[in-house]
Amino acid sequence: MRHTRQDFPKGFLFGTATSSYQIEGHAYGGAGPTHWDTFAATPGNVVRAENGDVACDHYHRYEEDLDLVAGAGFDAYRFSTSWARVLPEGTGTPNQDGLDFYDRLVDAMLERNLKPCATLYHWELPSALADRGGWTNRDVAGWFADFTEVIMSRIGDRVFSVAPINEPWCVGWMSHFLGLHAPGLRDIRATARAMHHVLLAHGRSIEAMRAMGMGNLGGVFNMEWPEPVDDSPEAARAAATYDGYYNRFFLDGIFKGAYPDTVLTGFAPHLPTNYQDDFPIIGQKLDWCGINYYTRKVLAPNDGPWPSLDEVGGPLPKTFMDWEIYPEGLYRFLKRTAEDYTGDLPLFVTENGMAAPDVIDGGGVDDPNRIAFLDDHMDAIRRAQAEGVPVAGYFIWSCFDNYEWALGYEKRFGLVHVDFETLERTPKASWHALRAALGGADG
Ligand code: NOJ
Repeated sequence: MRHTRQDFPKGFLFGTATSSYQIEGHAYGGAGPTHWDTFAATPGNVVRAENGDVACDHYHRYEEDLDLVAGAGFDAYRFSTSWARVLPEGTGTPNQDGLDFYDRLVDAMLERNLKPCATLYHWELPSALADRGGWTNRDVAGWFADFTEVIMSRIGDRVFSVAPINEPWCVGWMSHFLGLHAPGLRDIRATARAMHHVLLAHGRSIEAMRAMGMGNLGGVFNMEWPEPVDDSPEAARAAATYDGYYNRFFLDGIFKGAYPDTVLTGFAPHLPTNYQDDFPIIGQKLDWCGINYYTRKVLAPNDGPWPSLDEVGGPLPKTFMDWEIYPEGLYRFLKRTAEDYTGDLPLFVTENGMAAPDVIDGGGVDDPNRIAFLDDHMDAIRRAQAEGVPVAGYFIWSCFDNYEWALGYEKRFGLVHVDFETLERTPKASWHALRAALGGADG
């Protein structure tokens, strides 16, 4: 790698991120059913109808996995807690095995000097709550606050940081408007409500953790740079609309107590009555803000109903996800987030990385494109820092190849290759490069 730890300010955190359903093996340990299990079991939703039953079997192999995280020299590990593993019915009686697992997991991180960075919800909603309308039901905010208290009563004394909900856009828009993730709805009214309730749940969860005396609480937002297809005012409008519902909706709600006009154009008739009254809860003070960044999108207008736009292919080199590689977008988002929303608040890049069709060859995996991708995005962070943006950490998605949701197991994002037949782990060249750059064991 071109970069080493020494290129970054002292105390800058290097981490790697995973999520529960994508790696644990949801079939183990008494976890309750979730809407991802039923979404995956419905033909046509997921490549080869693959699911998270076994995934990386991290539930049983977490010690070996954390050795790989620590071995690369990372300072922090971003993981998520499965709501249905802790509360199989979504509410009510906890599954002691689930609580014990997260307890062991956090201790195992601390034993390896890894800072535990928890995300409370990374997309698998207990089926019992999905049956009651899931994110479209306002009560989800209270259920989530209760779950927050249950899990944090067990591990809240030892975690370094907490974000309630991973990528609100995916929970809201992608799952209720595009229908690409569970519960697979395509309904604007459900979308508007889900997007509002996700923010309400975020606020209630932060409130619950403050009441428990916890600190270092933040939010994790995914962002895609909106690029108009040409110079026309119509294309500019399409890009602004995309920017509104993808990027700005959540930050505006939390940091400005309002939703962007570009989104109200479509959402106003569908948001809950008096939704504005929820902004004081939504806008709970945060200690940091996380950005998950992967790509940009090129937008063209269409004359269909709102949002009246199409994503069109762009000219830049692409990853195996077919996502354009655009490190400049990370720089621009870091600048813009600090300028428009967060000021002096520490920013973390809570996810960044790329998928490739990695294969084992001669006992190892050569992934030079990933190494270049990470270096180029580190450049973007350095540039933003040099211009005064307080970027405090960089988390790579992901340490392990894992379940890439509707795309199943073939999109490999890991620094470590996982053979999904034998479950054998093989560090890729990128893992070795990071180990040298970060000063991991023998690094
Ligand atoms: C964002 C999500 O948080 C994660 O679950 C997903 O695997 C990666 N991006 C890659 O798409």
